[in-house]
Amino acid sequence: MTSTVPKTAPTAGVPVGLTTTRAPFIELAQSAGELYIDQPYELYSDENHDTWSRLLERIRPRWERYANRKFLEGVDTLQLDMRRVPRCSDINRFLEPRTGFKAKPVSGYVPAYKFFDCLKQREFPTTITVRDGSSLDYLPEPDIFHDVAGHVPMHTDRAFADALVKFGEFAERAARRAGEIRDEKERIQVLTSNMKGLARFFWFTVEFGLMRDRPGTAIAPGACRVYGSGLLSSYGEIAHSVESPTVQRFPAQTEWIINQYFEIHHYQPLLFVIEDFEHLFYLVHDLERKLDAGLLDNLQPGEPEVNEVDLKSFLDAALAS
Ligand SMILES: [Fe+2]
Repeated sequence: MTSTVPKTAPTAGVPVGLTTTRAPFIELAQSAGELYIDQPYELYSDENHDTWSRLLERIRPRWERYANRKFLEGVDTLQLDMRRVPRCSDINRFLEPRTGFKAKPVSGYVPAYKFFDCLKQREFPTTITVRDGSSLDYLPEPDIFHDVAGHVPMHTDRAFADALVKFGEFAERAARRAGEIRDEKERIQVLTSNMKGLARFFWFTVEFGLMRDRPGTAIAPGACRVYGSGLLSSYGEIAHSVESPTVQRFPAQTEWIINQYFEIHHYQPLLFVIEDFEHLFYLVHDLERKLDAGLLDNLQPGEPEVNEVDLKSFLDAALAS
């Protein structure tokens, strides 16, 4: 669905901005029930462009120091403009020919099943608002800097992109398995547990994953590089995740990851470390095997809590399968 929301700014000639905390265009789209939208580029204000520029400028040296090589190659591939908020259409000109992935503008929160299903279609739901320029560091919800600068560079890598598609397939299989359960209470319990497992795995890998540094390029003996987008888009936490002696860095293992709860509103005290991307792809394969074997059906309770919207999105898929 493309947007039918009017793009006219209230004050002619002065863009009202697409700021996370105030974006009338987004509010209108949401109230009209429009999830997939066009990116109304002319609405970005000078402040939005300035915020993007400052975010990118200050994090670049930290990317050089802490990010993994494939991410840095992806940043080069995308040719992100330092001065202007990116257009998704420009991003996609560089991205789609490499892996088939596209940044797909959305008006806000995408229910969990729809999010995973987009990945299956090689579409990445992309927030188009920019955080407020007065709070560069802290943002409880995603913005375009997190989604485009944090996530999309990794989508230029063929094997990583293929792994993302698998998450969409896992969601489909989890829904289909739950759809075969007659008893409603049991169906919801099993589905909720599977959803937790998928969310935790996604969180501790795609969003907050660390990778063992390769010999010869180590920041320090035993140090890590970052491949998780939540870290790559956080000026403070990218350094904290690698340098802080208070962070627990555990070897990544599927059964530990899917049973580990997490909270989103503070720096992560516990992160999982993969050896290399081959290790990650093995873990994704292992998750698939465990899901099919029913080993995600009764996971440790706790965060993330499964909200009504996300559960409904999976239940709808389960009952349609
Ligand atoms: Fe994210």
